Amino acid sequence: MAYKNIKEIFEYNQVWIEEQLKNDPDYFFKLSKRQTPKYLFIGCSDSRVSTEALMYAKPGDVFIHRNIANVIPSNDLNVLSVVNYAVNHIKVKHIVVCGHYGCGGVKTAITATDAGILNPWMGYIRDVYRLHKKELNAIKSLEKRTDRLVELNVLEQCINLVKTRDVQQALLEKRIEIHGWVFDMRTGKLIDLEFNTKKVAKEVLDIYNIVK
Ligand code: CO
Repeated sequence: MAYKNIKEIFEYNQVWIEEQLKNDPDYFFKLSKRQTPKYLFIGCSDSRVSTEALMYAKPGDVFIHRNIANVIPSNDLNVLSVVNYAVNHIKVKHIVVCGHYGCGGVKTAITATDAGILNPWMGYIRDVYRLHKKELNAIKSLEKRTDRLVELNVLEQCINLVKTRDVQQALLEKRIEIHGWVFDMRTGKLIDLEFNTKKVAKEVLDIYNIVK
């Protein structure tokens, strides 16, 4: 929606309140009680990756963290705190890393260029490029190569989750699953990349295991 001004947002807020109350007079009373979402969604900040819309979810259904190109750096206190809180306090059952085709962050990262203050963040995505350079450089079309890097970035960020203590502990206790998804905004479709948590954990935990 193209809002005319900031004031209009507050008018639409009132419209939304009235719509909810018309369907259920106790809507906000119920909403304010407690959150028990089963899903943590880590996605891109892109304004078109509207988590609730694409999951057909309602307030209270999904705990959400979004940043540029859905990255989970092992030293980023922001995302690590979200994962910690979601896994240990809210006790979500699923963590979803969701990328999207045509991601501006990935597009910038795939080009060796000075991105200014974004350089360190781009570096995380460029690391994924380096890990999969052979496969990616074999793809001639830049658009297709970018889309493949979007997918590989999601899968690598799923592995980054496995590197964290909180997720390792939850995996050991068999109370969490990790999923890698891509949102294709050209069709609206959500695509499951079928990240195999068990298999990957087996492959990488001899290096990353920190839970006794
Ligand atoms: Co993006």
